[in-house]
Amino acid sequence: MAVSMVQGAAGAIAGKVHGHWSSRMGFIIAAVGSAVGLGNVWKFPYMVGQSGGAAFVLVYLACIALIGLPIIVAEWLIGRRGQKNPVNTMADLARSQNRSPAWVAVGIAGTLAGFLILSFYSVIGGWSLAYLGDAASGTFAGIDKATAGALFDGLLASPGTLLAWHTLFMAVVIGIVCRGVRGGLERASRLLMPALGAILVVLVAYGMTTDGFGAAVSYLFSPDWNRLTGEVVLAALGHAFFTLSLGMGVMMAYGSYLGQEVNLLRAARTVAIADTVIALFAGLAIFPIVFSHGLDAAAGPGLVFVTLPLAFGGLSGGSLLASLFFALLVFAAVTSAISLLEPAVELVEERTPLSRVGAGLATGLAAWALGIVALLSFNAWSDVLIFGNTVFDTLDKLTSKFLLPLTGLGAIAFVAWCLDRESVRAELRLSPTAFRVWDVVARFVAPIGVLIVFINSL
Ligand code: PFF
Repeated sequence: MAVSMVQGAAGAIAGKVHGHWSSRMGFIIAAVGSAVGLGNVWKFPYMVGQSGGAAFVLVYLACIALIGLPIIVAEWLIGRRGQKNPVNTMADLARSQNRSPAWVAVGIAGTLAGFLILSFYSVIGGWSLAYLGDAASGTFAGIDKATAGALFDGLLASPGTLLAWHTLFMAVVIGIVCRGVRGGLERASRLLMPALGAILVVLVAYGMTTDGFGAAVSYLFSPDWNRLTGEVVLAALGHAFFTLSLGMGVMMAYGSYLGQEVNLLRAARTVAIADTVIALFAGLAIFPIVFSHGLDAAAGPGLVFVTLPLAFGGLSGGSLLASLFFALLVFAAVTSAISLLEPAVELVEERTPLSRVGAGLATGLAAWALGIVALLSFNAWSDVLIFGNTVFDTLDKLTSKFLLPLTGLGAIAFVAWCLDRESVRAELRLSPTAFRVWDVVARFVAPIGVLIVFINSL
């Protein structure tokens, strides 16, 4: 605690004292809250479905361990050393290590990525809220395939409805972030994550009672190696990045609120395991329902928003299950969205005279405004194209193909190649032998893995 307070004072700029997590546990819950999001509950199951099941899952697990884990540690380590927003942190560390000032690009790209992703993440968060409303009001009861499809298409085609839900979602996010590190980010995760876990257990338990459970288990866990293509490997690696919230300045910002008492490797292992277990559980909740209704597991992005309502609609008690499911999706989205805003808020808070509340409002409203452009690309502006992509797709591609790999690669390369190695070994509390393993992974395996994805995506 004393350590945190000293660091808190050292991290302050122009008299502003920078927040800290209340404890190691509080930090871990917030980091898990960031990692567990739409990526786990919405994207992971449909990616498994599209990429052919267990082979994808196994590659994904390897990517988490060999690439995701070292990069989380690198981002936290950088953030903790800097004790400031990602931009100032990178600038300070580069200067103190006599490295090129260009390293600041890592902090800028990460902060920008988080902000841009939030703008469209909030639109999807809005869909989740809309579906929670539909589920609770019994809209799915007895629904047929055509109606389920029409419901989703109707939502996308209606800018007013999308705007209302996007606005509500962003208001919740801004409200939480304005309350600060402990009272906002940490508290929201402490409340929402256990609720999320409990709902997931109920849904998996329900899945076990259906006759699709066996099929779901073998779908997720028994690999068909013939389906493993280069594309599947790339998708797995890209998703490992996204699901652990890497390359967006988020983990750097979260690291800047950390004290020395936290063991970074252990914390990273906990976060990676929790994130993976929750993604797999989401699969075990969703696929039994899909299979027991004879529906298509490879339905793609509509899996959660079209296929599931159809399944819930045919169940007695389906409205309750559907409400639980979409509440789960909303909770997961909120605790991730708040983390996406944090690097930008930290930057504005530390570099301008604005208070925490002022910084939260200014950055949140800017992301909200950009989100409006993104949501219009599903309807009124669907023919406004930038190099052949809608605004929504442009934001998605710009961030996931350029900014994220650049930031993630920069973070791991900076820690592995630019920082004093003995100090990194000591900070990671590794024996000389264990450090050799870390060194090979951090210097070669992880950066090369990221580079491969980066080059392939171009
Ligand atoms: N990790 C989140 C998910 O899996 O949905 C998404 C996310 C949150 C990505 C925060 C990046 C981030 F900074």
